[in-house]
Amino acid sequence: MIAPHAQAADFRALRDREFPSMVGAAYLNAASMGPLPERARAAVEAYNRRRSAIHTMRGADFEPVLARCRRAGARLVGGDEDEIALLPNTSFGISLAALGLPLEPGRRVLLSDREFPANVYPWLALERLRGARVQVLPTDARGNPDEARMLEEIARGDVGIVAISAVQFTSGWVADLEALGRACRQHGTFLVVDAIQALGQLPVDVRASHVDVLAAGGHKWLCGPFGTGFTYVRREIIDRMEPHLVGWTSMRASADLERVLDYEFGWIEGARRFEVATQPWQDYAGLAESLELMLEADPARIRAHVLALQDPLAAWLGERGIEVVSDGRPERRSGIFAFCPADAAGASRALGRAGVGCVLREGAVRLSPHLYNQAQDVEKVMDVLDGVVHG
Ligand SMILES: Cc1ncc(COP(=O)(O)O)c(C=O)c1O
Repeated sequence: MIAPHAQAADFRALRDREFPSMVGAAYLNAASMGPLPERARAAVEAYNRRRSAIHTMRGADFEPVLARCRRAGARLVGGDEDEIALLPNTSFGISLAALGLPLEPGRRVLLSDREFPANVYPWLALERLRGARVQVLPTDARGNPDEARMLEEIARGDVGIVAISAVQFTSGWVADLEALGRACRQHGTFLVVDAIQALGQLPVDVRASHVDVLAAGGHKWLCGPFGTGFTYVRREIIDRMEPHLVGWTSMRASADLERVLDYEFGWIEGARRFEVATQPWQDYAGLAESLELMLEADPARIRAHVLALQDPLAAWLGERGIEVVSDGRPERRSGIFAFCPADAAGASRALGRAGVGCVLREGAVRLSPHLYNQAQDVEKVMDVLDGVVHG
């Protein structure tokens, strides 16, 4: 266990090195978008510079860049490289699961209300296109997924797929993926996870949680370039998934550019088959750096850091009787912290005017500090709120 002040100092040094523009910025909005670390920006720029001399580029400039990215993504979620597809955003991965997983006739798809729409529309599309039965469960009294009810539904044995966010975008509530995954595995249910609000800020382990498909875009907590992301697909189900988007690079024959006109229909090995076509190599060179940075910083330490940043604010709000929306139980806490003063919109505007990066979500002020934030950033929130909130 590292002492909190030593940890904060480590993260300060990391911020100064990798996120110099964040010094003094009070940007508390990683849940919307993260900044690019210096090493990712440099990698994208270097790649583009190299591309100006395309005649000098070689094979090593292409596939190995993607392989490095898949490897880092795999390490971050506890999977293997061949279970990772580099896909541009969360929606792409969730759609892949919705339209590709073999859903037996009569089995339901289970969602919770108040999920971010990226994890809702692909399932509604499945309902429209294939007549699947999608059941949206009401949330609990605090607006979070009703996990106990979900477990009951899974136990009935007719749920084909459960789709849930690892971390809720409004409140930061952390799902108990291990409990859900265990139940799903026991009852032959696929578990699909939207992990964009989790990866980069807390540990995720697809094996321990029996996750079948996990999708995340790279532009929030992972601090990757826009339009990058990755999806994990458990090895055992890759061959059972029917890709709904098929491209030439999905095929084994296309790996040999001398043979592309054979049109030999055979999937390339592993989850790479879901990547479909030409990739933005420069951006994945950047994402590889961002992912490796998160691995080096260690998601468990990042989580401890962002929770420690929130603690003084939670206490300050408590003293003033201001409602905290986020669940305070340790296992349910994440880097997203939402609270609801009497005039939340006014408080959010005042914070914005003072230069604090935050947003209003579902009537609450949402803060999402990350590894580049320091105590002063959150102190600024209290300074501003002092003038505007009255319990
Ligand atoms: C839970 C969740 N899923 C997905 C997204 C974004 O989806 P995509 O990566 O497809 O743009 C967001 C935020 O924008 C989100 O909060």
